[in-house]
Amino acid sequence: MPHHSLTQHYRPQTFAALIGQPELIQVLCGALQTGRIAPAYLFTGVRGTGKTSSARIFAKSLNCQRHDQPTPTPCGVCDACQTIARGDALDVIEIDAASSTGVDNIRQLIERAQFVPLQCRYKVFIIDEAHMLSTAAFNALLKTLEEPPAHVVFILATTEPQRLLPTIISRCQRFDFRSIAATLIESALATIAAQEGIAATPAALKFMAQRAKGGLRDALNLLEQARLLSPITLETLYQLVGALPEDRLLALVTLFIQPQADAMATALDICEALLLQGHKPLTVLEGLVQVVTDLQVALQAPTRPDRVTDSALWEPLSALAADCSVLQLQVLGNQMRAAADCIRYSEQGGLWLKRLVLDLLVSHESVTAPVPGGLSLPQQWLMVVAQLPAGIRPLIDPGVLKRIESGVATITYEREMMASIARSQVSAIERAFQAAGLGVMKVVIETA
Ligand SMILES: Nc1ncnc2c1ncn2[C@@H]1O[C@H](COP(=O)(O)OP(=O)(O)O)[C@@H](O)[C@H]1O
Ligand SMILES: [Mg+2]
Ligand SMILES: [Zn+2]
Repeated sequence: MPHHSLTQHYRPQTFAALIGQPELIQVLCGALQTGRIAPAYLFTGVRGTGKTSSARIFAKSLNCQRHDQPTPTPCGVCDACQTIARGDALDVIEIDAASSTGVDNIRQLIERAQFVPLQCRYKVFIIDEAHMLSTAAFNALLKTLEEPPAHVVFILATTEPQRLLPTIISRCQRFDFRSIAATLIESALATIAAQEGIAATPAALKFMAQRAKGGLRDALNLLEQARLLSPITLETLYQLVGALPEDRLLALVTLFIQPQADAMATALDICEALLLQGHKPLTVLEGLVQVVTDLQVALQAPTRPDRVTDSALWEPLSALAADCSVLQLQVLGNQMRAAADCIRYSEQGGLWLKRLVLDLLVSHESVTAPVPGGLSLPQQWLMVVAQLPAGIRPLIDPGVLKRIESGVATITYEREMMASIARSQVSAIERAFQAAGLGVMKVVIETA
C-alpha cells in the first residue's frame, strides 16, 4: 500500500468534512443548488485552510455523474468524482503557478479553455498560488475571463490576493478562507491521532494546534513528524521544533516573584540549560518578557486563557499571577527591556542574560523586605525613570532614590553630576513620580 501523508489521507472529500469555514460553504452550496455557477472563483486565505481541497470538491460538485446537474453533495464514487479526487481527470486541470516552469504551457492551457470538456460537464481550471502567474498567462486568463465560455470554471487560489491584478479580482466571485480556530485544530488533531493510534498528551495537542497559526496542514504535518516520538508530550515537542520550553521560562520568572531556597543556583541552571540547547540569549529574553506579559493577562484578564502564548500553561500562570501586582510585573518588564540592548549587541549575550537574571533575583529580595507599597526603592526608581522623556533619561537614570517621606522623594547624585541636573529636570522627575503613581509631590536632589 502506498504511504500517504496525514494531510493527503485526511484531505476533506466533501463540503461537510471541511473544518471551520461554515459561512463560505453555505454560499458555495447555495450556488450549486440553484445552478448559479460563476465563470471564476477566487479562494484566498492563509496556507492550509482548505482552499485546494475546496476547489477539488467544487470540481466534483460540478461534474458528479450521479446527478444531472451541479450538486453540493457529489457522490465520491462515480468515475468523475474518483478521477478528480486522484487528480487525473482530463477536464479538471490543476496548475501550480508557483512551481510550473512551462510558462507558455500555462498560457496555452488557458487558451485551450475554448474547447468543450471531454468527459465532464465543466472544464475546471484550478490555479494554485495564482499571484505567481506569468504576465503572458495573466493576459491569456484575462482574455478568457472577458468572454468566458459557458462550460468553463476557473478557481484561483492564493495566499496573497493583494498581488493579483484588480481586473482579475473584479471578474471573480471571491471567498476568503478564515484561519482555523486553534480549538478546532486541536479537536481535529485529537480525532486523527485517535484514529491513527498516535498517543499524545492533551497539552501536546494544544501546543501543536496553537503553533499551526490557523492552518490545519501545518498542524497535521507536525503531528506526522512527532508520531515517531510517541507518546507525544510537550517536552518531546519542544525538542522537535526547537521552541523555547515555556515551562522553563515560567519556572525562571517564578523565581523572580516567589521566594525559593537556592533560587540563584536554580536560575543559573535554567539559563545555562537553555543556552546549551542553542537558544539565543535575546530569544530567551523575549521569552521571559512574553511570560511576564502572559502573567499580566492572567492577572488583569482572568477569563482570557486564549490571550496567552501557551494556554496549556494557563493554570500555573494564574496561580503565579495571584502572587503578583500589576506594578511588580511592569517593573519586571521594564528591567528586562532595559537589558535588551546589552544582550542584543554584546558578543557575550549569554553573560548579560545571566547578569539580568541575577539582578532580578536580587531586586526581588529587597521587595520581600517590608517596604512601603511593596516595592523596593530601586524598583520605584526604575518605574520613575521609565516615565521620563527618553531624551533626559540617561542623565537622570544614575541617581539613587534614597528615601520617600511624607510625599518628598530624596535622590542623590555623585558630586560631578550635580551641576548637570537643572531645575527643569527636577520638575520632569516630579512629573514622572506622579505618572508612576507613587504619591510623591516634591523631589529633592542631594549630593551622594
Ligand atoms: N478546512 C479544512 N478542513 C479539513 N482539513 C483541512 C482544512 N484545511 C486544510 N486541511 C488539511 O490540510 C491539507 C491541505 O489543505 P489544502 O486544502 O491544500 O489547503 P490550502 O490550499 O488552503 O493551503 C488537507 O489535505 C487537509 O488534510
Ligand atoms: Mg493549496
Ligand atoms: Zn460522483
